[in-house]
Amino acid sequence: MSDKATLEINGQKHEFPLVTGTENEVAINIKTLRGVTGGVTTIDPGYKNTGSCESAITFLDGEKGILRYRGYSIEELAEKADFLEVAYLLIFGELPTSEKLEQFHSDIKKHAVVDDDVKKILDAFPKAAHPMGVLASLTSALTAFNPTSVNVDSEEEMYNAIVRILGKFPILVAWTMRKKHGMPLDYGSSSLGYVENILQMMFKRPDEDYVQNPILVNALDKLLILHADHEQNCSTSTVRIVGSSHAGLFASLSSGISALWGPLHGGANQAVLEMLEGIKEDGGDTKKYMAKAKDKSDPFRLMGFGHRVYKNFDPRAKIIKVAADEVLADLGVEDPILDIAKGLEKEALEDSYFVDRKLYPNVDFYSGIIYRAMGIPTEMFTVMFALGRLPGWISQWREMRLRKEPIGRPRQIYIGETHRPFKDINNR
Ligand code: SDX
Repeated sequence: MSDKATLEINGQKHEFPLVTGTENEVAINIKTLRGVTGGVTTIDPGYKNTGSCESAITFLDGEKGILRYRGYSIEELAEKADFLEVAYLLIFGELPTSEKLEQFHSDIKKHAVVDDDVKKILDAFPKAAHPMGVLASLTSALTAFNPTSVNVDSEEEMYNAIVRILGKFPILVAWTMRKKHGMPLDYGSSSLGYVENILQMMFKRPDEDYVQNPILVNALDKLLILHADHEQNCSTSTVRIVGSSHAGLFASLSSGISALWGPLHGGANQAVLEMLEGIKEDGGDTKKYMAKAKDKSDPFRLMGFGHRVYKNFDPRAKIIKVAADEVLADLGVEDPILDIAKGLEKEALEDSYFVDRKLYPNVDFYSGIIYRAMGIPTEMFTVMFALGRLPGWISQWREMRLRKEPIGRPRQIYIGETHRPFKDINNR
């Protein structure tokens, strides 16, 4: 393949270098385009054909349904690694030795407390507040209590901000859920593993000792790994562009939480459960909802289906579907919602509308079924997605800052009114 692309505009030919990645993806580097063409730019709504950066963190192949973190397959990581190990891999680029992992966890534990004044902010929210809005606010508020985590230029300062947020974020997640259910805002224990501690903080009753259930620990650990990163998705791109202005890490993460909240993105896992519940209430009539999903005049979409990149099965959905069966069986939970989900999936995979558009189940289609079996309320599902995605957001933000990427500032094509003189109010 040639190493250049040629563009002809108004009879003038312009050459642009091709960039080829380690997985043989090819992009046209157009950073000189505007200059050499006298102002011509590109436009690509939703950035379906536009790369925002070069990154060494996560590789997706949407046609083959491949997902790898720093070169390791999601299947191997989900089976053989734990979440904190994967967080270290994403952020620092290599699987840690046991000593490095132990030091990393120990550094995180040093920051696994949150200023008690944060509870006052939490108290100001109505119980009906959506947990994602609460979490985004508390995450941004952490900046006020950790000012040194804002202007991080050195790798050391960056490391300190990273272990701070990895220590504090699970507390914010747990407190967000407990506040909603009128439970005391407490801590876990530094003697526990990272995921065990999360479960204890979320579920411990004030009047009982919390007994760890290895089924829940393994299920949550796997779900967090599967959600840990996904290259330049909507919320990660948000974290990167906010961070590109040199806003602090916590403020950048807070913006990512807000982007993830949307039902077309991370909010889909909650929307899937609400959709499945609706179908169950409606007598399990999946065909009616399939018809709605295909009806262009109906805004209803089959939540948990389709993906911007995967035009094959989302590899995470495959793993979660198997895990859903295992977790429900291990917990002895019979959930008719799982049967409805499987019926819907079967119908969609045999329906030409979905097959022609290469719409397959994505990560959100089955995850909520496991969260529900674990006793996690539906409104907390997207918060759990954010908990998993935290190391991915951190790794992408760190890469963007270490590579000294320029501030993100896209161009546009103006389609509004051309110049016109001001009109006095009496003449309008
Ligand atoms: C996540 O980007 C990431 O990596 C995200 C994520 C991550 O880990 O960060 O993987 C997590 O966000 C997963 C996606 C969760 N969202 C949902 O499940 C919501 C339902 N899915 C859709 O809204 C949609 O599929 C998107 C938003 C996920 C992708 O939308 P695209 O790529 O912009 O595709 P599109 O809207 O252009 O759809 C192409 C066609 C259209 O029909 P036509 O105009 O060609 O006739 O497919 C149709 C769409 O109407 N379509 C659907 C559909 N998804 C797409 N029709 C019915 N139900 C659906 N779910």
